[in-house]
Amino acid sequence: MKPKIYLAPMAGVTDLSFRLISRKLGAAHCFLEMLDSNATLYDSPRNRRLLKTVKKDSPLSAQLLGADPSIMLAAAEKLLNLVPLSFLDINSACPAKKVIKKGAGSALLKNTDTLAKIIKTLSSNLKIPITVKLRVGFNKKNIKECVNTAKICQDNGASTIFIYGRTASQGYRGDVDYESIKVVKDSLKISVFGSGNIFTPQLAKKMIEETGCDGILVARGAQGNPWIFKNIENYLNGKPIKLATLPTKKKILKQHLAYIKKYKELSASNKLGFMGKVTMWYFKGIYNAPRIRERICKVKSYEELLNLINQKKEKTQ
Ligand SMILES: Cc1cc2nc3c(=O)[nH]c(=O)nc-3n(C[C@H](O)[C@H](O)[C@H](O)COP(=O)(O)O)c2cc1C
Repeated sequence: MKPKIYLAPMAGVTDLSFRLISRKLGAAHCFLEMLDSNATLYDSPRNRRLLKTVKKDSPLSAQLLGADPSIMLAAAEKLLNLVPLSFLDINSACPAKKVIKKGAGSALLKNTDTLAKIIKTLSSNLKIPITVKLRVGFNKKNIKECVNTAKICQDNGASTIFIYGRTASQGYRGDVDYESIKVVKDSLKISVFGSGNIFTPQLAKKMIEETGCDGILVARGAQGNPWIFKNIENYLNGKPIKLATLPTKKKILKQHLAYIKKYKELSASNKLGFMGKVTMWYFKGIYNAPRIRERICKVKSYEELLNLINQKKEKTQ
């Protein structure tokens, strides 16, 4: 079967504009930004922003953060009344200290009883599939423990495991542990997706070949580089991959900014600041990037930002 290519959940990154541009360029599925189950129970401008979606933003899933099965169930029920979701994912991967302190995210890797209860509660009470995002371990590589955690997820009703090939202690750096992902894939009956360092079509192929996974999550590799989805698909099908030229980059960036302009509910200055951040993703590694960043920080309007992007010439690359 053809491996599935999804956009990974990324808090602060995968908003509606990012999802729409990724879908346009081949992402088969996207997640809303991570939702804290406690906060999801309340109506707030932030929640409305996080839940913002449109018809063409489909198929779509949500990822819940939490440690209390009944709060997570209440949050999930509320969510399902607000947004059409294909499945609901449980975050057992976030390495942030403030999250771990509350027993959520990657702390669940150390407390598999709670993880099991959360999965059981959600999978037995909700009509949509429940999935789990795991890391390969908390502190250090331990394949036996990793497989055991994945099996607990499967036995309690998870339909898919998304597994990030780094431990929580590694954060986002260091070698990707393909071996643990492979052993998890070989040990489970449910689907297993691999995550970690999918920065190029070649690395996507490596993840698929080394682990036998059913699909991959593209994360940082899509920031300022959403054409990676089509390139991965082409590469896996033996077709040539096209490197995006500066005019193509500029065209896609402007489309991305237009989505932000249309959909992002932020104050004018915060919105412009966010657009500047997104612009820098696209110009990362480009000649004279620090000077461009300086100029982007000073723009006073959307039009001024577009002018600056239009002025960026090929020869200065
Ligand atoms: C800015 C940022 C935010 C992220 N937020 C989440 C999140 O909310 N939930 C989650 O499961 N993983 C999150 N991740 C992890 C990614 O989904 C992915 O597993 C990880 O970045 C590894 O993929 P990569 O090496 O290809 O970037 C985040 C990663 C980044 C860089």
